[in-house]
Amino acid sequence: MDIVLSGIRPTGNLHLGNYFGAVKNFVRMQEENKCFFFIADYHSLTTHPTPADLHGNVKQVLVEYLAAGLDPDKSTLYVQSDVPEIVELYLFLNMNAYLGELERVTTFKEKARKQPDNINAGLLTYPSLMAADILIHNAHKVPVGKDQEQHLEMARTFARRFNRMYKQEYFNIPQAYNFGAELVKIPGLDGSGKMGKSEGEGNAIFLIDDEKTIRKKVMKAVTDTGPTQPNQTKPEVIENLFSLLKVVSTPEVVNHFDEQYNNCSIRYGDLKKQLAEDMVAFTAPIRQKILDLAANEAYISKVARQGAEKARESASKTIREVREIIGFRHF
Ligand code: TYM
Repeated sequence: MDIVLSGIRPTGNLHLGNYFGAVKNFVRMQEENKCFFFIADYHSLTTHPTPADLHGNVKQVLVEYLAAGLDPDKSTLYVQSDVPEIVELYLFLNMNAYLGELERVTTFKEKARKQPDNINAGLLTYPSLMAADILIHNAHKVPVGKDQEQHLEMARTFARRFNRMYKQEYFNIPQAYNFGAELVKIPGLDGSGKMGKSEGEGNAIFLIDDEKTIRKKVMKAVTDTGPTQPNQTKPEVIENLFSLLKVVSTPEVVNHFDEQYNNCSIRYGDLKKQLAEDMVAFTAPIRQKILDLAANEAYISKVARQGAEKARESASKTIREVREIIGFRHF
């Protein structure tokens, strides 16, 4: 049985990119694998949230995970900061993580550009914390979107390095995973190429968005002036709209608009209307569950406590063994 793990930073609501990049895989995988899903609240400290925001965001993501279909009886759903063993493994991995390789990570370079006044050590060592998240349960598969590919490569590097250093195949070599196919990047609505919570108003469709909001955002999506020749290649902004259609609509709907594009009769307004309706149909039941669950404080607390207990059981076993391998012995 494979060990599967994935996580998300609690820095905003879940959007369709998170869902189709990571959560959907996970919901399916929890039936047949040993699954861990967590909320990466240590990671979110790189951007210095206030204490009140931090707790509220963690709760919100927990609720949204459950609403999106994560079953706490089938998988282990927990908050990262409830499992301090992760921090210990992070420290061990950092002893063999080198400045040069950490500085070359694309997300580090991007963040350093975006927040030049806050290039902290946590940002630099983000990949070793992420590797600790994965290796603490010795995961085989990690369902993530394309943007996390490089981080997964680093996790593999750190796992191999540890195994080599201590001359034993202790850690599994974790693989980024998307139903055995290419990792996906769900585009945003503003033509920016990636749906993301920090990409600006109107770029992302959140699972919590109501019908009106979804329609408004989709109708404003960036397009071009339309095809002028039959079967011409779609420019990126149009390709992006079709990519969104592919995840929420039926193949018949996608083919219909594809044909219209190819014979130059397409009206983007019609495509957007259909896209908005299909997005509403997809998110509405999840949204209702979010609203119901958010009101149930006692259940949410119970899920978090049970998840922490299960996650710590697995994590403490790893830390005990890793300490032994490294050479820490009790007197
Ligand atoms: P985060 O919080 O940015 O995103 C959570 C998950 O959603 C995926 N994702 C997308 N996939 C496709 N298209 C998009 N537009 C899109 N936007 C987001 C991300 O790839 C991710 O899978 N570093 C991670 C959190 C993390 C983690 C881990 C993940 C910490 N430790 C260990 C896996 C394993 C992050 O910032 O994801």
